[in-house]
Amino acid sequence: MVTRRDIMKAITLGTVGAAIAESVPEVSGWTTIQDPLPPAYAGTRKVKDLPYAPSKLKGLDEVMMTNHHAKNYTGTVGAVNKLEQTLATLNKDTPPFVRAGLKRRQIIMMNSVILHEHYFDNLGGDGKPAGKVSDAIKAAWGSVENWETEFRGTGASLAGGSGWVVLTYSLVDGSLHNIAQDDHSVNYALGRPLLAMDMYEHAYQRQFGPVVADYIKAFMENVNWDVVNKRLEQVASIKLG
Ligand SMILES: [Fe+2]
Repeated sequence: MVTRRDIMKAITLGTVGAAIAESVPEVSGWTTIQDPLPPAYAGTRKVKDLPYAPSKLKGLDEVMMTNHHAKNYTGTVGAVNKLEQTLATLNKDTPPFVRAGLKRRQIIMMNSVILHEHYFDNLGGDGKPAGKVSDAIKAAWGSVENWETEFRGTGASLAGGSGWVVLTYSLVDGSLHNIAQDDHSVNYALGRPLLAMDMYEHAYQRQFGPVVADYIKAFMENVNWDVVNKRLEQVASIKLG
């Protein structure tokens, strides 16, 4: 259970948190949030374990993958939890720019967590497209090769920067799209990620340097298409219009 005392510890996490702490007088009624914290502020998200041993991946460095999960992803889960608890400390006297900054970071970090969980979960396979998603890709792009050319090219276009390439199912009309998501936060509205490829440099730099094509090749050879198919099956009947 997260208490108000826990929140006060949480807001010592940096300059923004310190600024918030200074702006909030420690008197009764400084926040309307009661103990225990309601779910929106609880900050209790847990790290999802890798569904395979990193050493089992073909052509992807074990240490790089382990660090990616244990440092980058795990660190972001902790940061999201602290940020949610920090939001519980805001009140009517909080400067709008403080709240705006935290809310922007909230969506960036929440999306980072979600996309990383999709990324790790959609690896560990044989890289051979099959099933309903393969048929859907053929229908949308004319062939799997056409789709893969665009998917790889979209990844390469993000080289040297940061972002994601996400094969996305539109919950509006059931269409498929390869979406480039910059900064974790630019998503296709009502889009369900089917296949996520991390193009942040921490995902490949240690092993592949600037040669992103080799990283993308290794990624494609490890895609778990069973997982991608299950994601599609969850939503294939949804067309919200
Ligand atoms: Fe990452």
